[in-house]
Amino acid sequence: MAKAKKVRSWAEPFKIKVVEPIKMLTVKEREKAAKEAGYNTFLLRSEDVYIDLLTDSGTNAMSDNQWAGMMLGDEAYAGSRNFYHLWDNVNKIYGMPYFVPTHQGRAAEHMISKILIKPGDYVPGNMYFTTTRLHQEMAGATFVDVIIDEAHTPEADHPFKGNIDLKKLAKLVKEVGAEKIAYISMAGPVNMAGGQPFSMKNLEKVHEFAQKHKIRLWMDATRAVENAYFIKLRERGYSKKSIGDILLQMMSHFEGIWVSAKKDLMVNIGGILATKDERVFEEARNMVVVYEGLHTYGGLAGRDLEAMARGMEEMIQFDTIKARVGQVEYFGNKLIDLGIPIVRPVGGHAVFLDAKKFLPHIPQDEFPAQTLAAEIYIDSGVRGMERGIVSAGRDPKTGDHRHPKLELVRLTLPRRVYTQSHIDVAVESIAEVWDKRKSIKGMKMIYEPKYLRFFQGRFARLK
Ligand code: F0G
Repeated sequence: MAKAKKVRSWAEPFKIKVVEPIKMLTVKEREKAAKEAGYNTFLLRSEDVYIDLLTDSGTNAMSDNQWAGMMLGDEAYAGSRNFYHLWDNVNKIYGMPYFVPTHQGRAAEHMISKILIKPGDYVPGNMYFTTTRLHQEMAGATFVDVIIDEAHTPEADHPFKGNIDLKKLAKLVKEVGAEKIAYISMAGPVNMAGGQPFSMKNLEKVHEFAQKHKIRLWMDATRAVENAYFIKLRERGYSKKSIGDILLQMMSHFEGIWVSAKKDLMVNIGGILATKDERVFEEARNMVVVYEGLHTYGGLAGRDLEAMARGMEEMIQFDTIKARVGQVEYFGNKLIDLGIPIVRPVGGHAVFLDAKKFLPHIPQDEFPAQTLAAEIYIDSGVRGMERGIVSAGRDPKTGDHRHPKLELVRLTLPRRVYTQSHIDVAVESIAEVWDKRKSIKGMKMIYEPKYLRFFQGRFARLK
């Protein structure tokens, strides 16, 4: 009999130099805090949170190299050296010659939507993202979801659930005409689908289609490095390629990108709009001075630009991305082992609980995912967020709730922040809530803001 291969553990490729204390409130105190926050985890004070899995956005731990770079911030109004360092890296690492910095991702989304969209246009994309779609709609476009069907089914175990369905894309182009498509908006891994990647092969086909119909192809490259990692792991022919090379190969298909640097780049603030199209760049350079600041700082300090430039160099290191995605996988596998329903396969940045299966007795109009996120917080101080009917918002034409198939709670891992023990504590808490799930009741919305209601909406428990 062949000897079984010994599996050896691996650990994070860093050690901890600075620590930030966290504290745990009592259940009673958390119950009070949740009520005061209208059962919306976005409205909690972070001091009242024990393990914060709300988002991986701007919540990352920077390296000593990034912190050292902060001290080298050149705070000149115009032409700081940190801007040029960052521009060089955008060029080398994303392969995009033109670039403007922005204070975060949605500022770049705002500009690119205004530049490329004419009222009445359509924007097909591989599932919506909240701020992305809102900017597209506010610029006058209709967003059309062209992701493959599997993406809407939590248990569908497909390696590339972020793929675009070319038949859906072709149908839209046939219906409205290629001239009405402002651009194809491709993201990867797809945040709202559970952090699911697209394949290089799918991207190549989308690119070919776009070329044929003379449609622009743009990418939300916020977590593109995670997508490159999944391609290396799962797609034939990429296992020996470096993350940097896969990223560049992905980028070769896009005319431009927008990036929330608060994710892959492991910084606390920042955004990027980069392109190969000189005319788009010219417009972006004009716009950035109106909304963000001069084109060499875009709403950021010189030190932030330096932290971004250095984070960009670190993000493509294999050990860094392996540990990042590996930690999410560890978390997901623990929940799977307990029989707790999550989106499969485990995604790149977060584990997503399937609230429809977790709380099947709560109808979607009573906000099962919102309820579940609040219950987990009350149980242990672990903070996640709703990604379901509240996040989906209302249809701008009918004013009715959109009812997404996915009703999820996202538990997102900031990069380099938490250890395996924090994850174990989160798993135990979710298991506890799972055990008492039948006694949990839904909620009603008692305050609804006009835009992006998940951020500031308030809820009350149903009796
Ligand atoms: N695109 C994607 C895919 C995102 O995940 C985000 C932000 C943005 C754009 C907007 O970037 O926040 O810098 O303005 N996502 C955060 C999250 C908020 O928690 O997923 P931003």
